Amino acid sequence: SVSCRVEHSGLEKPLVVQWGGGSGIGRAVCQRFATEGASVIVADRNEESANQTLELLSRDHKGQDHMALGVDVSSKDSVEKLVTSIQCRYFQPASVCVNAAGITQDEFLLKMEEDDFDKVIEVNLKGTFLLTQAVSKALVSAGSAKGSIITVGSIVGKVGNVGQVNYSASKAGVEGLTRTAAKELSKFGIRCNCVLPGFITTPMTDKVPEKVIDKITSIIPMGRMGEPAEVADACAFLASDDSRYITGVSIEVAGGLFI
Ligand code: CAA
Repeated sequence: SVSCRVEHSGLEKPLVVQWGGGSGIGRAVCQRFATEGASVIVADRNEESANQTLELLSRDHKGQDHMALGVDVSSKDSVEKLVTSIQCRYFQPASVCVNAAGITQDEFLLKMEEDDFDKVIEVNLKGTFLLTQAVSKALVSAGSAKGSIITVGSIVGKVGNVGQVNYSASKAGVEGLTRTAAKELSKFGIRCNCVLPGFITTPMTDKVPEKVIDKITSIIPMGRMGEPAEVADACAFLASDDSRYITGVSIEVAGGLFI
């Protein structure tokens, strides 16, 4: 429960909470929103990398009130503490929430350990539930007129991917969760959408064997992997008033992969 005074002042200077903001797509989203003039709360389970993102924002966007925190999205306590910290510091909830916290534990189905399945579901799917719930509760109790919750899914949640039975299940799950949240939260002015990246150049794809990357790149119609900033651009659209009549959808940012 939230114990601080709440005073939501609308979207002119949005307050953005970015989960998984320490690297990859999450970091690019932080940079994009800071460029838009937002105050960005960088949350990552790796506090050091969250702080590195914060340093980049503070260097490039002086005078904006950003903050960074170490948060485990799979822990209800940890997520609620962050939401309370936001209220205490900014006296309003974040009107934009981007969830890019995700992990992989790739292995073939026939060899995957139960624990590798559970870990990925805990962070990617349960984490999305916990933070969507916490962020929307804060917006509803503040009586905010508007909010936009954006979850980074994956193209593989739709089409599957060799070696990713756990990850693709979690990413299919977040799309279902998002559509349901969109139905339930529309009456409070909160929109919920997904972006579905394809293969993007990040620390996550750095772990993929080169022969697999070559195979995948050869079937991407646009002929290359994507950049984190290209996913961040789609998030910026979903956070903005330009998408005000859009909720419950998934936007693929995949260079045409699997169309
Ligand atoms: N697509 C197509 N073929 C794949 C594949 C994939 N995703 N993953 C593995 N293969 C193929 C390999 O190319 C290889 O083919 P050949 O026998 O013709 O050489 C065969 O499967 C066996 O692969 P490995 O030799 O690599 O087997 P391994 O036991 O050493 O490793 C693995 C297995 C852990 C699954 C490893 O192959 C791997 O990490 N694959 C990549 C899985 C992947 O695509 N992950 C995406 C991460 S990025 C992400 O998740 C972001 C997103 O949203 C898309």
